[in-house]
Parts: sequence; C-alpha cells; structure tokens
Amino acid sequence: MKSRGDDDLLSRAIELAERGRYTVSPNPMVGAVIARGRRVLAEAWHRRAGGPHAEPAALARAGSRAPGADLHVSLEPCVHFGRTPPCVPAIVEAGIARVFVAARDPNPAVSGRGIRELRRAGIQVIEAGPALRRRAESQNEKFRTWIRERRPFVLAKWAATLDGKTAATSGESRWITGEAARLRALLLREEFDAVLVGSGTVLADDPQLTRRLGQAGRRPHRRIVLDGRLRVSPSARVFRRPEGALVVTARPEKDPRVRRLAARGIEVWSLPGERGRIDLPKILARLAGEEITSVLVEGGADTLWTFFAAKLVDRVAVFFAPRVLGGSGAPGGVGGGGFPLGQTPRVVDVEHERLGDDWLVTARVERVRPRPRRPK
Ligand SMILES: NC(=O)c1ccc[n+]([C@@H]2O[C@H](COP(=O)([O-])OP(=O)(O)OC[C@H]3O[C@@H](n4cnc5c(N)ncnc54)[C@H](OP(=O)(O)O)[C@@H]3O)[C@@H](O)[C@H]2O)c1
Repeated sequence: MKSRGDDDLLSRAIELAERGRYTVSPNPMVGAVIARGRRVLAEAWHRRAGGPHAEPAALARAGSRAPGADLHVSLEPCVHFGRTPPCVPAIVEAGIARVFVAARDPNPAVSGRGIRELRRAGIQVIEAGPALRRRAESQNEKFRTWIRERRPFVLAKWAATLDGKTAATSGESRWITGEAARLRALLLREEFDAVLVGSGTVLADDPQLTRRLGQAGRRPHRRIVLDGRLRVSPSARVFRRPEGALVVTARPEKDPRVRRLAARGIEVWSLPGERGRIDLPKILARLAGEEITSVLVEGGADTLWTFFAAKLVDRVAVFFAPRVLGGSGAPGGVGGGGFPLGQTPRVVDVEHERLGDDWLVTARVERVRPRPRRPK
C-alpha cells in the first residue's frame, strides 16, 4: 500500500523535526512535509515551545495547494488544546487527502486518537513500518519518558581512560579527553533541561555547569548539585549566577546551612530518603512537575552509582580517551557497591563516534520487565 516515496518523505519529516532538538522542550520534536506524490509542496518543523506546531506551519506554507495533497508527519497530530490549538481540525479543514504518520503520540491517554479522528473525517491514515517508527520514537525519547513515566529522561555521562578510570589516584581529572570530545560534551549539555553532579565533583573540580554554546537559546537550564550533607560552599562557581542553581540535600530544611544558601538566592530542596541518602525518585518527580524533561548526570562515580542502583538511567554516553591511567585507588565511571555479575544493567543500540583521538560510545539502557509469575 505504501510506496518508497512515502517512506522517503516520512524520513524527511524526521530529519526536519531534528532541527528543533535544542529548542522545543518540553514539547516533542516534530517535522512535517506536504507533498503531491513525490513533489514536495511545503516543509516545516516545530521550532520552539509555545510556537506553532509543524503541521499548521506546513499547511500555511502550502496554502491553496494543500487540498488533495498528502501530509507526512513524524508524530501523530494532536487533538487537544495545549499552548496552541489542536492540529487535527486544521488538517481536516485544509482538505488533506492522506496522512502518513511515523510514530503515535506517547501519551497513553491520547495515543491513537489523532489517527482515529482523522479517519473519522474521511482522511486515509498510513502508519510507518517498524524501522521508521523506532527512529521517530527514539528521536523523542526524552519527551516520551517524561510523558509516560512522569520523570525526566536521564543520560549518564562520563569520560574515562581505556582502563575505565575517570580520575587519577590524586583526584585529578582535567582533562582526560581532548578538545573535540569536550566540545561534544558541552553540546550535550545544550540539549538537556538540567545538568546534575554530586558534591564530590563540585569540591574537586569546581565546575560552572553552564551552557555556553548558545544552541539552546534562552531555554531555562537547571544546574543541580546533590549534596547529602551540605559540604559545598555557597561561593562555589556553580552558584555564581544563582538563578537556575539547585542544591538537593538529605539535611532538614531547618539546617542553618540550608538558610545560608537560600540567603544567597540559591534554591535548596530537602528530600531525605533512606539511610541519610537523597530520595532520587522524589527529585525526578518534582523536576518533571517543573517541565524538566531531561537530566544529564555528569558524575562523579558515587552519584552515577546512585542513579544506576535506582534503575533511573535511560542512556549512557561514555567518552573514551586512548590512554591508560592505572592506580587501584583511582575511580571508574560508576562507583558504589557494584552489581553482582548476573544482575548488571545491559545496554543496547550501541553507537560510536570518533572525536579527534577519542571515542564517544552511546547506548540505551535496556529496560528489564519483571517476568510474569507463572500460576502454580
Ligand atoms: N571523568 C569524569 O567524567 C568525571 C566526572 C565527574 C567527576 N569526576 C571526578 O570524580 C571525582 C568525584 O566523584 P565522587 O564519586 O567522589 O563524587 P560525586 O559523585 O561527585 O559526589 C558524591 C557526593 O554526592 C552526594 N550524593 C550523590 N548521590 C547522592 C544521593 N543519592 N543521596 C545523597 N547524597 C548523594 C554525596 O554527598 P554526601 O556524602 O554529603 O551525602 C556524595 O558524597 C572527582 O575526582 C572528579 O574530578 C570525573
């Protein structure tokens, strides 16, 4: 039923959607192509949250050429009012004949509704095959996690030597990788709504955790420090510009150090969990409520372990430098107590990229669903 040309145009819609990667959060990336056969009449993509959706933008460009044409869209058109009006009525009104959809809306409450309403209006809807669907779904993995799990998507990132060390025995870790890898790491920061580190990293490296490449425009950015016992000084560089900075601690709100930080305009959340640790699911739920759809966890090893141990890592990005640090006391990427060999998280869809002399390996952490119990 579907011609090769339709696949190409859906693929093009996914490519267009990509242009919104740094600017659309908390919305999904969406691209749209209006075509007659293989002849493209108009293209558009969702550029920024609050701005027009891809479909009405493409329809406006197609103008009087839209009736009878096909719409190729990377995500199922919406039926609900958000910051902008729903897209389905606009598509119906424009007289579009067929709609090709790469991926369904991830929200279980509305998934498939856009498609049903289009069909009810007499429009033929054709859904993509598994390969394109997976590509479109993976493109919006942050948005999907935020919608479906009501928590931000978590990427765990670290830079290691070939023997897996992330700092020397002395604690020195700047810089393990070369310039191209470090630039790529900064670019990663631009696409995440928040960056998070542990207090150990602030004490050792005094990072700023800022976005500095200008890709994300003025989109708000949270810089988060997990500081169980409040060891970090209010004069650390991460707090130089207090807006966006957030300290999360296991100490109670009445602790004088909480008040000292607050007096400097630094936001502090007191979220004590078990055994003096911070309750990670609570942090993530609260961040999700602030429309933070993604968090980049930049270390160190102790913090990364707490995220892995809580099964809260969705993807890993590991920069490998072609050198060997050695040192039995030198930390590796992930610390803590470690997993038994039979229970390690597994990663899939492994990809690698050469960056100067270094490598970036990215992969998705496989979700292990508990096996259904057999009835006795
Ligand atoms: N190569 C790299 O990519 C990279 C990246 C980052 C850091 N580093 C290096 O790693 C070293 C620091 O790593 P690290 O493992 O020592 O420290 P870290 O992970 O940065 O910070 C550890 C501290 O964070 C707090 N914390 C983390 N998770 C917590 C939780 N769930 N609940 C409560 N508190 C939590 C704890 O504070 P409390 O103890 O007060 O509870 C803990 O001591 C430095 O040498 C740094 O240079 C390397």
